[in-house]
Amino acid sequence: MLFVVTLITIAIPSASAWYLPGSAPRTYTKGQAVPFSVNALEPMAMAPGAGTGSNAHIKSIINLDYYNEHLHFCQPKGGPQAKSEGLGSVLFGDRIYNSPIEPRMLVNETCVQVCTTDVPSEDAKYINEKIEDQYAVRWLVDGLPVATKKIADRTHEFFYAIGFPLGQLYDEANMGLNPPALNNHHDIYIEYHKKGENEFRVVGATVIPSSIDSLGGGRDTNADCSRTGILQLNQNLQTQKIAYTYSARWIESSTPWATRWDNYLRVFDPRIHWFALINSIIIVAFLVLMVGMILARSVSRDISRYNAIDLDEDVQEEYGWKLVHADVNRTPPRPTLLSTMIGTGTQLVAMSLVTLVFALLGFLSPSNRGSLGTVMVVTWCFFGGVAGYFSSRIYISLGGDNWKQTAFLTAILFPMIIFTNILSLNFFLLVSNSSGAVPFGTLLALIALWFLINVPLVLIGSVIGIRQGGWKNPTKVNTIPRQIPPTIWYLRPFTSAIMAGILPFGAAFLELFFVMNSLFGTKVYYAFGFLTLTFVVTALTTATVTVLYVYFALCAEDYRWQWRAFLTGGGSAFWLFLYGLFYWMTRLDLDGFSNRVLYLGYLSSLTLLAFLLFGTIGWLASFIAIRAMYKSVRVD
Ligand SMILES: *[C@@H]1O[C@H](CO)[C@@H](O)[C@H](O)[C@H]1NC(C)=O
Repeated sequence: MLFVVTLITIAIPSASAWYLPGSAPRTYTKGQAVPFSVNALEPMAMAPGAGTGSNAHIKSIINLDYYNEHLHFCQPKGGPQAKSEGLGSVLFGDRIYNSPIEPRMLVNETCVQVCTTDVPSEDAKYINEKIEDQYAVRWLVDGLPVATKKIADRTHEFFYAIGFPLGQLYDEANMGLNPPALNNHHDIYIEYHKKGENEFRVVGATVIPSSIDSLGGGRDTNADCSRTGILQLNQNLQTQKIAYTYSARWIESSTPWATRWDNYLRVFDPRIHWFALINSIIIVAFLVLMVGMILARSVSRDISRYNAIDLDEDVQEEYGWKLVHADVNRTPPRPTLLSTMIGTGTQLVAMSLVTLVFALLGFLSPSNRGSLGTVMVVTWCFFGGVAGYFSSRIYISLGGDNWKQTAFLTAILFPMIIFTNILSLNFFLLVSNSSGAVPFGTLLALIALWFLINVPLVLIGSVIGIRQGGWKNPTKVNTIPRQIPPTIWYLRPFTSAIMAGILPFGAAFLELFFVMNSLFGTKVYYAFGFLTLTFVVTALTTATVTVLYVYFALCAEDYRWQWRAFLTGGGSAFWLFLYGLFYWMTRLDLDGFSNRVLYLGYLSSLTLLAFLLFGTIGWLASFIAIRAMYKSVRVD
């Protein structure tokens, strides 16, 4: 408990949007061009006009390339040029290009016509569909996302939501529009901070998009932003001429450059996070108390009784976990697979812990675009050594003798499953013309990281593990296996895994909701302090629940604890998967086959990773507990 309290005091200050600025500040002089770029379009639950931001459903999880030919956005002179991005940024769907809009520091502009473009009827249909799917356009000014200013439902605080809607489904009177209106005019408000005499910095950017029939039904060539009437794309017209316009307003702000991300990273309603956390802590406190009591009492009583009875040679009447002392370390079926899974699990645990530490230190904020993804991939690769070390040592402890196969499997098996998953999802993304597809160069980079860093480190780790040998078992294994009595229904491995999984899942699920909202929506997740605490509490719950179930099984004279422990620990992954399906039913409204396949693909990868991670935590806890228990048993 003390440990948890200490963690809270460390982590909570970081829960309130602490971050390091992504790059060095840039200062501009009056009239100097400020870099303006565009990112891929992302679906967003915003239901413009409907006013119910929190209940809006997300229709799609596929990103669209900004300069996708069907969208007909204005292109910069000389064609769009891609900005090179980091690995994590690319993996998480950023595709950044330059833009024809070039705002100048402190120069207000009104109704600048960027271009006119002809939209053929089939593309009008395409754009209307994307507006209905609630796609959001994402622009960047000086590396800062252009946002929509919103008011939080519950707290009534304003915050910046990244991006703005491609079009509008409702008119001012909140009546549905058919066809929807296309936002072709943008009032851009850029906030600047005066640093010195003729030195200015960009500290905020918001946009109010609007739909203006500025060409008067396509009759004019010069846009007039004062026209009334909205712009709707008619699918029955062969082509329709439209104009994109913008106005830029520079607003002085007192926000210093160092805190310019605050409005984006506000953790709303920390009360919900607190509630989630207290809920988890109660669960874990209850469990730890229960396990502590059961183990301390019954183990010590059992040991003294066992040792006493043993002297009376009255062992036959004995029951419980100590009867299986000569079998508890019997080699389980498929020791190679089990130790590979545990090795991979330790790699995941190490990766999660290091990523969370980086996040708490403020390195992984969105101001370092993509840093979260990059840190995860890179630390995963570098912890190959941990995977090799643990898989080989555990393999030997389990009584295996073919360690090379284990080392090979640890280096290949799970990275391959995840990579195959990425490749097949990529196929669907390519088919649906999405920019979310991972480019070939990035795939090559991933393969290089895997084979040039991860595989050699796994092998080195394995060799070190083999040198050190297995952990010595406290009890000897009999040659003749003991008979196992029929298993009670609630102790069958799968039943107990599913039952035991409820508790760790229960400790995590409220925080999980926020994580899902940011994975499958556009909300920025920045409650890493809460996430870290939730992770610790969930891990503790998993460990104690698993030990408890393994102890029950041993008491029922079922000594096959190894696979059971892994399954029980990983049982919460089953609930994670179900929760993912529930989230889909209640929060998403996915259109089309590709979207559904993608969602299931992402969800299954997440489930697999959670299974390995928490299965390993459960296994390691049981391993330690069993060694401690049987060490004190007196064997003749
Ligand atoms: C630009 O427009 C804003 C908002 O209308 C105004 O406050 C500001 O003074 C203008 N700046 C210049 C340089 O005209």
